[in-house]
Amino acid sequence: MAIPSAFIDELVARSDIVDVVSDYVNLSPKGGSYWGLCPFHGEKTASFHVLPDRQLYHCFGCGKGGGVISFVMELENLPYLDALRLLAKRAGMEFPEGDLDESGRRRRARLLQLNKEAARYFHSQLHSPAGREGLEYLRGRGLSKGIMTRFGLGFAPESWDSLTKAMTDKGFAKGDLLDAGLAVSGKKGGVYDRFRNRVMFPIIDLRGDVIGFGGRVLGDGTPKYLNSPDTPVFNKSRNLFALNLAKTTKLGRIVLTEGYMDTISLYQAGFDCAVASLGTALTADHAKLLSRFTKEVVICYDADAAGVQAANRAIPMLEKTGLKVRVLRVSGAKDPDEFIRKYGPDAFARLLDQSENYVEYNLGQLQSKYDLTDPVQKTEFARSAAEMLAGLDSPVEREVYAGQLSELTGVGKNALLQEIQRSRNQRMRSAKRKQARRDMTPVTQVQPKARQMRYENPRSARAEEGILRLLILDGSLLRETEGLEPDQFSSPYLGKIYEVLRRRIREGRALQLGMLEGELDRDEIELLADILRHPEALENGKSAMADYRAILDTEQMKRRADDEAALLAAREKYRQKKSI
Ligand code: UTP
Ligand code: MN
Repeated sequence: MAIPSAFIDELVARSDIVDVVSDYVNLSPKGGSYWGLCPFHGEKTASFHVLPDRQLYHCFGCGKGGGVISFVMELENLPYLDALRLLAKRAGMEFPEGDLDESGRRRRARLLQLNKEAARYFHSQLHSPAGREGLEYLRGRGLSKGIMTRFGLGFAPESWDSLTKAMTDKGFAKGDLLDAGLAVSGKKGGVYDRFRNRVMFPIIDLRGDVIGFGGRVLGDGTPKYLNSPDTPVFNKSRNLFALNLAKTTKLGRIVLTEGYMDTISLYQAGFDCAVASLGTALTADHAKLLSRFTKEVVICYDADAAGVQAANRAIPMLEKTGLKVRVLRVSGAKDPDEFIRKYGPDAFARLLDQSENYVEYNLGQLQSKYDLTDPVQKTEFARSAAEMLAGLDSPVEREVYAGQLSELTGVGKNALLQEIQRSRNQRMRSAKRKQARRDMTPVTQVQPKARQMRYENPRSARAEEGILRLLILDGSLLRETEGLEPDQFSSPYLGKIYEVLRRRIREGRALQLGMLEGELDRDEIELLADILRHPEALENGKSAMADYRAILDTEQMKRRADDEAALLAAREKYRQKKSI
């Protein structure tokens, strides 16, 4: 990014979060911080919290959080640079457009070129001896050779530097590989391949450029999928996997799935209209993008509770853009990929035709449990249906379904709406209580909101969070982390945040959340905002840091011991096999 970082730092320093938020939200002070009605979801009781000392916002209702830049991005639905422009105007600062244009364009072109070469490299590896296992894996999942080629699938070999070598041989610099998210910087200034021993899914935008990658482990390792980080050419919340193919479908609708493999399986089965979001929840930008290419979206997420929840969040967002939304729930399989493999394309086509409006579907399910000729059961149905409708965030939807429910049950619409509101308030209170309980007990295992960020080792992650908090409170504590490297963190996301903080402290720059928003993904910012909300005592900073590091070390040792045991077991198995 060619915007001078000094400009960003000054802009953030001049954009007090309370001032900026106050342009949009009525805030009331309470004990050193501010509360208001959340602008991101409809609510009647204030659960939106702004902390001036940490320059962050967080909503207890919908979980959104971040610094001043992400607030503007989110609320005005603007990309990063436009949010900076808006804030600059507000702060009376001149935005350095000139710095951006020429060098920015050249940089993007360079990174796209690199991505293209990398995709070619991965693809060629898939069909070489080094990629045998990857090819077998994809075959084992039922993909034909033609489909692998159609999607440009590839393989990243089991090696720390094969891509880096191949690309530097072609004249790319290590800095290019880092900026494209293809390499990661290690200790002592070296770089190593981000993707190792994974089958590779290139992500291609509407112009046909390769903008990023997803890489899947062969088998059960973690993370299951590793994705490119956001880069100057890749933004997860504005791109969808396979939209470049689905945009020309003749099927008259687009099927929205959760995963790369779901989309590819559907394509292979003849449904060339599938897309997937890239390991993040659907955003308003995604919804807008889809509405440019189709009139109808069929949500086809995984059958588990998380899938249902994600669908519930996606529906109002899609509807807001004027799209017709339907929901298809696969049964007898965990996701569309498995469904197609088990029951075939015809069964899927039938489901596609039957897919119905989600709320109607759920109401129907509920209604079938009651005998509506019995007045007592009828009221009970009305009550539990109202409770279900309380989960809808759109007031328009609540209004419409309350009307339908009223006709069905003979209970007055206003009474139903009141019941719905009562239930919503109750939900909010219990969410707040739950959050308060979590805040009180630091040892409980709170997981990040974004699914792909889940902590594998919550105990270590707690300590890692503590280290980040301490560093932000007092950068001089970096001295106490001497010898601690980002890749020692059990959570790669926390490790990355640590790396960014460490670099900034060494450069003598400030650490306000807003200033970090150009260097971290949206999900990472949200995670960091959540981490920073929690209290951290600074009086004993040094000893706290030592305690955290001790936990990190112990957990790392345990992990190593586990790995070693697994290795020994594998070796033993191999020996036995050989002797047979
Ligand atoms: P799932 O866990 O449902 O995987 O994640 P899947 O699509 O069924 O994959 P297979 O069939 O086991 O190979 C759904 C999507 O969430 C993102 C990926 O985009 C994935 O396709 N994800 C998942 C990640 O980004 N990282 C992860 O570690 C896991
Ligand atoms: Mn799957």
